[in-house]
Amino acid sequence: MSTLPSEILLYDLSADTLDMRSDVLAGLARSPKRLPSKYLYDARGSQLFEHICELPEYYLTRAELALMETHVAQIAATLGPQVLLVEYGSGSGLKTELLLERLADAVAYVPVEISRSALTASVERLNGRFAHIEMLPVCADFTQPVRLPEPARPQRRSVIYFPGSTLGNFAPDAAVRLLTHMRREMGPHGAALIGVDLVKPPALIESAYNDAAGVTAEFTLNLLHRLNRELHGDFDPEKFEHRARYVGETERIETHIVSRADQRVTVAGQRFHFAAGEAMLVEISCKYSRTSFARLAARAGMRVSHVWTDADGLFSVQCLRPARQSTQTQ
Ligand code: TRP
Repeated sequence: MSTLPSEILLYDLSADTLDMRSDVLAGLARSPKRLPSKYLYDARGSQLFEHICELPEYYLTRAELALMETHVAQIAATLGPQVLLVEYGSGSGLKTELLLERLADAVAYVPVEISRSALTASVERLNGRFAHIEMLPVCADFTQPVRLPEPARPQRRSVIYFPGSTLGNFAPDAAVRLLTHMRREMGPHGAALIGVDLVKPPALIESAYNDAAGVTAEFTLNLLHRLNRELHGDFDPEKFEHRARYVGETERIETHIVSRADQRVTVAGQRFHFAAGEAMLVEISCKYSRTSFARLAARAGMRVSHVWTDADGLFSVQCLRPARQSTQTQ
């Protein structure tokens, strides 16, 4: 149950947005089979993901945090005063805290998050620290257009914060659609602040998604445990394995769950056959160069106004603005 302070109103737009049963059955009916990655984050999955973020091989979180620590004053200055800060996915909140601390006279914080418990937890913590910033949590799927709540004080600019390389989990066409939604939501004076993982030697990327301790493997296979529990599945997780490979041509990591045997599985009342070695795609994590990300932004009618990176050049945070009419491509 929500334990939010009574003055905080939670906008709940989550009804009917998630239908795990039909998403999973649709994915398994495809050829090759797929499992939707948004279901990786149940309570156990979220815990395992927090653990991933601390792994020595998973450079992304450390690099993004380091770059925020180094550049947050400049980022805040770039965004200016009286910002309405919208965050897609409320995350672990550490980077958000850095930003809220530095933004001059921030008007409100609007986390948009599908998990009610994650949303409530982050708002509770931030509300304690930032009593002067209005908290406007929205429980919704940010991949659908969201109508943002209006703050009590008018903002000078809406800024959509999307850290953690989550945009990379969308294939380019879907990423362009999401960026286009953002552009509409932020308005002509708005900005988006996006965490973008950069292309680098494939071995480094692959080890970030195949850690030695096996936490990432446990994280992806936890999805099968969830399907067993919530959709009456009978997957034997021992008979499947995690695999993450970098595909150079498309500059992305593909995470698969691979069947170790020829087997049949029942889930949500339907039976599926798996050949030995058959792979189900669970997640993609796209990596960008500065050029390829600028091109992606342009397809969504945006331009990159600033790029900040960590000292090692592993990760970037990029500020996008609506492109001027003449350079807009859609
Ligand atoms: N946004 C994270 C990323 O792409 C999510 C993630 C990290 C992930 N490790 C994973 C997703 C392993 C699936 C499997 O880096």
